[in-house]
Amino acid sequence: MLRVGLLIAMLMLLSGISTACLAKSVRIVSPDKNLTVQITDQDGLRYSVTFNGVTVIRDARLGIVFRDRPAFGLQGERLNDITPKTFNDTWSQRWGERQHVINQFTEALTGFTLPDDSFAALQVRWRVYNDGIGFRYEMLGSGEQGIAITDELTESTLTQSEQAQAWWIPALGWNRYEFLYQQSGFADIDRVHTPFTVRRQDGIHISIHEAALVDFASMYLDQRRSGTLKAALVPRSDGLKVLTRDDFISPWRTIQVAPNAVGLINSDLIINLNDANMLGNVDWVEPGKYVGIWWGMHLGKFSWGNDGVHGATTERARQYIDFAAQHGFDGVLVEGWNHGWDGDWFKDGDLFNFTKAYTDFDLAAVSSYAREKGVRLVGHHETSGSVTHYEQQVERAYALYDSLDVRQVKTGYVADGGQMKRVDEQGITRYEWHDSQYGVNHYLRSVELAAKYKISINTHEPIKDTGLRRTYPNWISREGARGQEFNAWGSPPNPPEHEVNLAFTRMLSGPMDFTPGIFNLAANGLDAENRVQTTLMKQLALYVALYSPIQMVADLPEHYAQYQDAFQFIVDVPTDWSHSIALQGEVGDFVAIARKQRDGEDWYLGAITDENERVLTIPLSFLDANVRYQAQIYKDGEEATWQTNPYQYVIQSTAVDKEDVLTLRLAPSGGAAVRFALIKR
Ligand code: NOJ
Ligand code: CA
Repeated sequence: MLRVGLLIAMLMLLSGISTACLAKSVRIVSPDKNLTVQITDQDGLRYSVTFNGVTVIRDARLGIVFRDRPAFGLQGERLNDITPKTFNDTWSQRWGERQHVINQFTEALTGFTLPDDSFAALQVRWRVYNDGIGFRYEMLGSGEQGIAITDELTESTLTQSEQAQAWWIPALGWNRYEFLYQQSGFADIDRVHTPFTVRRQDGIHISIHEAALVDFASMYLDQRRSGTLKAALVPRSDGLKVLTRDDFISPWRTIQVAPNAVGLINSDLIINLNDANMLGNVDWVEPGKYVGIWWGMHLGKFSWGNDGVHGATTERARQYIDFAAQHGFDGVLVEGWNHGWDGDWFKDGDLFNFTKAYTDFDLAAVSSYAREKGVRLVGHHETSGSVTHYEQQVERAYALYDSLDVRQVKTGYVADGGQMKRVDEQGITRYEWHDSQYGVNHYLRSVELAAKYKISINTHEPIKDTGLRRTYPNWISREGARGQEFNAWGSPPNPPEHEVNLAFTRMLSGPMDFTPGIFNLAANGLDAENRVQTTLMKQLALYVALYSPIQMVADLPEHYAQYQDAFQFIVDVPTDWSHSIALQGEVGDFVAIARKQRDGEDWYLGAITDENERVLTIPLSFLDANVRYQAQIYKDGEEATWQTNPYQYVIQSTAVDKEDVLTLRLAPSGGAAVRFALIKR
């Protein structure tokens, strides 16, 4: 920095420019000194990021454009001095990939001298962690309403992007986030959602995302000239991006930087940048496993409405409750018990009634039968994106569930992108993006209201996760990517690399309700297009590889009977962890993750691969010292392959300790799941 400063000063002296407009730079360094952010006011406000001496982001712009005020970042703002401070604390979470989270970073607030006071006064707050950076805009006002943001100028300008590979899904698409992840060079990237994952040629991995998305438009990335990704804000129906106050705080813009692919998974950057739990005691938030009257509808065996073979009958719900109770599962989801599903339900959300049951479903009897059996009914609200209609009923609907001791509700917003329906204050119908400021606010309102009734929310067709589970631990899971359901009817279904792609992209944002555990992999035969393109063992491994504090046991109960020995893994596997470590992996190819059970001694491992068979050599050094474990290994058989032989597997048991090394062969689109059960001394 010193040398650059000197050079600039010399050039200026030579060219006769006065030193009054000498560009200024400041630096913020991570606690381990490996990551550096340099901010300068030369040529607008810009920042660069250096990791282990390699500049990965260079001269990327900062700024915000307002409708009624001069844009911030374009007015010749001068950078003030900063005083970086280092923070180091550890916080605990009710549930998560790990119980205790280390939160260690260097923080600095950059203020700016403005040409005069008609300009918008903003500061930028920076946090530089060992595993990435976050920065956000903070406007210094008195709370005046009506500040309109029309654009954001923030860039992330990646160096050597021509040689890099990226994994992404398109933004502003009709299917929200439910697209197949693409792997491509930068030439093929246009407008993409975050988390956006990049592998540089030198092996450094980068993920760009945002944290704490509250009362703001969601950010996507719009590639300008090669390698320059501009932050773009999803528009509101009135054309503005954000309508806010003059003391707004933007979400954090985040850049994770890791020396390898698994480093991205092992980062806590996103939750660390969110505010602490605001709900107080949240012991009522319950992680666990659930079954559901669900897959039968996706297979076309049952219908949601009363216009076919109605799935949600009292009798079937009792059978599912019995099945859950028999195996120690916690919940039973019932979809389609309430009025409004008949006909083309995804086209008309205004017909849903969230408190009125079909006559063949006795809500009170089912929920009390569940409680007798030590199980809970899991509630369901499909809105088909008709949000005003839903909001008019939601409080009554939560109160009803609360009165029946239902503690978890799955919500759904099936509607095309840009088609979330609301009726404004004048009674005019508007259509909004799910990820617009309106959508962002609706989703959070529903979670806050649910907290009042001690209800946790599992949002499908959600806003993307930005770590708000830390602040609102009752936001227990969400979808936000192509889930298992696409294997029933998607064209195409999820290909073998899909879940491995998820691990390094979607999953970096937070838990996903993927709904693993399909055992009847090909209901219409192995050659049918719609089938699950994995081996049976990969379905087991997903319970560990794709994190969620609630995991569905997604198949029809009768499909588990044939593979009772494999089913035992699903019975045993917990959904809440004290430690998690991504051990090995490459984006889009494979991943192996180990997790230690919360409030228990056992470790679990899940390894999954794409269409390629591979042999993993896994040192068990993550296990606790001075103890032995019985490793119960569920792995693909020698001849297994997802296409023609997905059901061939081997279950072995062997004693191991942390000095041992496990060799696991994964079949094409296969997997391995291991329980390390502590051998008591
Ligand atoms: C979409 C959800 O992702 C799916 O799980 C659910 O069954 C349907 N909506 C109906 O609500
Ligand atoms: Ca969905």
